[in-house]
Amino acid sequence: MSYNEPMFKNRELDGKVIVVTGGGSGLGKSMSKYFLELGARVVITSRKMERLHATTEELESETGGEVLPVQCDVRIYEQVENLLKAVLDRFGRADMLVNNAAGNFISPTERLSANAFDTIIDIVLKGTKNCTLAFGKHWIKEKQPATILNIVTTYAWTGSAFVVPSATAKAGVLAMTRSLAVEWAKYKIRINAIAPGPFPTKGAWDRLLPGDLKEKFDIRKKVPLRRVGEHQELANLAAYLLSEYSAYINGEVVTIDGGEWLQGAGEFNMLEKIPQELWDMLEAMIKSKK
Ligand code: HXC
Ligand code: NAP
Repeated sequence: MSYNEPMFKNRELDGKVIVVTGGGSGLGKSMSKYFLELGARVVITSRKMERLHATTEELESETGGEVLPVQCDVRIYEQVENLLKAVLDRFGRADMLVNNAAGNFISPTERLSANAFDTIIDIVLKGTKNCTLAFGKHWIKEKQPATILNIVTTYAWTGSAFVVPSATAKAGVLAMTRSLAVEWAKYKIRINAIAPGPFPTKGAWDRLLPGDLKEKFDIRKKVPLRRVGEHQELANLAAYLLSEYSAYINGEVVTIDGGEWLQGAGEFNMLEKIPQELWDMLEAMIKSKK
């Protein structure tokens, strides 16, 4: 058994209809692939139909599962309502929603135009709100139990310089997750979140570590486990949080980052740099102060 292997051994999501926003690329695509392997029918959605078609072909041939690609800009509520309609027309139901679509880039905040800031807030916070509201209203009307999984980041609670619109929006998504987990529990709608640390994807890396920044800031050094995440690890966690095995987990955010954010947070974490042989001397110095 290894951490980068599929975790479930049976078809734990058999027959479920799962909508993954931003499912045409990156982590959304990797999660979709695993959901298909577990027997789910998956709807992938984003702005670029060409990419969605290519991913559909790839995922269907790799897994033998059924994928429905739907073009939808999550910023526009009417398009989200059309997405819901397309899902119901094809499958007659929707069981789970993964709010994964996001936009982000690094920039000093004072360089941003008002529209640049809005663009990120609109994709991440408003997009998650649009999908959650449209699907939630449907589930409540139909009295259908459902599960929502929101993909946030660890800086949703710490904040982060140079990605301020994203941090602001992800914090809002986290607040939405915890609030609705309580409010919609009576409708048997469960809502959780995953906060990933660094998982290499083209979308994120091109915008957050452009050019030679990848070499300049070796991201693995920020992680106590000294490695980046593997997509299967995140897919395993997502499948668990959607499955019945996590039926009593509600309003939780699960961090999967190798300890990255805590390494940045602990006041004395810099002592990691002290060589082992110095500790005898330091201990003696401290004891001599009694
Ligand atoms: C400053 C920028 C900019 C940049 C765009 N803008 N890029 N400003 N620095 N690098 C400005 C534009 O000038 C414009 O403002 C406004 O933002 C909107 O830009 P558009 O290109 O018109 O928007 P759009 O076509 O909607 O594209 C959205 C996008 C783009 C977010 C800008 O990058 C995108 O499509 N991203 C989707 C995928 C993505 O971002 N994936 C990464 C997720 S990673 P003006 O004023 O000129 O009109 C992630 C990881 C988190 O979230 C944690 C990692 C550890
Ligand atoms: P990605 O491949 O760029 O994924 C983002 C997806 O969102 C794309 O498929 C994009 O598709 C879609 N999207 C963007 N704007 C949209 C819109 N307006 N409407 C609908 N879809 C839209 O990046 P990723 O790394 O896989 O990110 C996936 C999720 O993980 C995001 O929520 C991100 O914040 C989170 N995350 C990633 C990391 C990491 O290290 N990779 C770390 C922490 C959190 P189109 O361009 O075709 O629309």
